[in-house]
Amino acid sequence: MSNHEGQKPVRKEMSRRQFLSYTLGGTSAFMVGGVVLPMVRFAVDPLLQKKETSAFIKVVEESKITNDPVEYKFKIHQVDGWYESEAELVAWISKDANNKVFALSPVCKHLGCTIGWNTEQSDQYVCPCHGAHYTRDGKNLSVAPNPLDEYEVKIDGGFIYLGPIKPNSRV
Ligand code: FES
Repeated sequence: MSNHEGQKPVRKEMSRRQFLSYTLGGTSAFMVGGVVLPMVRFAVDPLLQKKETSAFIKVVEESKITNDPVEYKFKIHQVDGWYESEAELVAWISKDANNKVFALSPVCKHLGCTIGWNTEQSDQYVCPCHGAHYTRDGKNLSVAPNPLDEYEVKIDGGFIYLGPIKPNSRV
């Protein structure tokens, strides 16, 4: 009997097993990848995209604006990750002594209530919650620790466009 007789063809069987495991493993990885990768991309993509917050919105014709503040409402389309929504914003818009248009946020800088213009016939913004007062430029006179915020303003083709909110630059 030669040394080769009686020995199992070990190398051949291992090769077949390896071949099967590579083939099945590769196929499984391909299938799992095909399912999982799109899910991962779906989950992560919106987080990598910039929030759309910096757009300017057309609000009103410039010719309608006077030195007396008037409340204007406008809508912005918000995209935050997967969540899209319409939000209604409010701005008090007027012109200053140099006829420069400016727009103030109505959010009281005390605790966030909504201010109103001239509600006490005092030519001031007044907050109904705890009595904060502000000048027409938004300067805080009482209760609130800071001036009213301002919107970025752009004027184009006779229309006023409002953009992101920024700290008051007038006081
Ligand atoms: S929230 Fe405006 S005075 Fe308090």
